[in-house]
Amino acid sequence: MAGLRFEDGSTTRDPARIADALRTVGVQLAYRPINPAASALASRIELEEDEKAQLLASLEHDFALASPQQDLIVLQPQTANLDALTARFESCHTHSDDEVRYIVDGEGCFGFVRPDGVQFELTVEAGDYIAVPAGTEHWFRLTAQKRIKAVRYFSGTAGWVPVYTQTPVRLGR
Ligand SMILES: [Fe+2]
Repeated sequence: MAGLRFEDGSTTRDPARIADALRTVGVQLAYRPINPAASALASRIELEEDEKAQLLASLEHDFALASPQQDLIVLQPQTANLDALTARFESCHTHSDDEVRYIVDGEGCFGFVRPDGVQFELTVEAGDYIAVPAGTEHWFRLTAQKRIKAVRYFSGTAGWVPVYTQTPVRLGR
């Protein structure tokens, strides 16, 4: 389950405190354990395309019905051009569409900028479902393990293009 880090270095895994912080940026977070039918494939390092489809089919998506399309993104240390791929999202940006993800393996960090400029960073893990509204200023990075699998729910890939805001990320790694 998710954990939160504040600019003063303090951290919390208290769901109520996390919900309070996320409310300030309009972000929804829910937790749904990976069901047993999907867990074996979810934990595999590499997946062929048919295995990705099989994994997607065996997951429950009822909490994300508003999004018409879904796919599975798999990032791991062996992924070609991994650093270049992830560097695009490590600076503060917004999107024209909601960024909706269900983490099924590994972990990653979503950083947020409140309207008053305060920043905090949420680490999401398997079972975490997150919805970042269009226009919410955020960043995303992998953790040291450089590994994540997540379902992306979307209405069109144009919404994935980052619109950079030039706000410096103040939370160091
Ligand atoms: Fe993003």
